[in-house]
Amino acid sequence: MTASLRPYLAADAPVLAAIFCASIEELTADDYSVEQRAAWMSIADDEADFGKRLASRLTLVATLDGVPVGFAALEGTELIDLLYVFPSVAGQGVGTLLCNALEKLAGARGAKKLTVDSSDTAEPFFKKRGYVAQSRNTRIIADEWLGLTTLTKDLAP
Ligand SMILES: CC(C)(COP(=O)(O)OP(=O)(O)OC[C@H]1O[C@@H](n2cnc3c(N)ncnc32)[C@H](O)[C@@H]1OP(=O)(O)O)[C@@H](O)C(=O)NCCC(=O)NCCS
Repeated sequence: MTASLRPYLAADAPVLAAIFCASIEELTADDYSVEQRAAWMSIADDEADFGKRLASRLTLVATLDGVPVGFAALEGTELIDLLYVFPSVAGQGVGTLLCNALEKLAGARGAKKLTVDSSDTAEPFFKKRGYVAQSRNTRIIADEWLGLTTLTKDLAP
């Protein structure tokens, strides 16, 4: 499987919203309840708003045969805001491809470190990449409390 990367285009918003929801629905069920996942997915309910968020970050889209299968967004220079992979291709290196690229771009923008507020599901992925847990947090989304961990990684100069 060889995935490619390209920058986000405005027309990607609906398919990235679908990837976002499928990823939460199917990949995070061991860590978050039905209610928590529904609240989390509701972030993409307003597609225009979701599209604005993607457009205002440095958002990369991973494609397979031209079809989007994952995406990641860098907010400013030092924050990974979003990282989602379509369930049927999870575990095949798409997350790694996206994260490698974000780390390079952040480094090129002068970032000394990267921070992510990671889901419990993605925490092992980030730890494997050298991210270190700093604090345990909760985020309230649509009246649901979701547990997250803030992790950071020092980038090589
Ligand atoms: C986390 C996520 C982005 C990883 O993407 P992916 O394409 O599956 O990751 P990769 O295939 O590149 O995996 C890289 C390594 O991390 C490991 N890994 C990935 N997800 C993992 C998980 N949930 N638990 C344990 N290990 C995991 C893989 O086994 C792999 O290990 P290896 O290098 O020894 O083979 C993806 O699983 C996802 O979308 N999760 C749900 C949404 C989410 O929580 N996003 C993060 C919001 S902060």
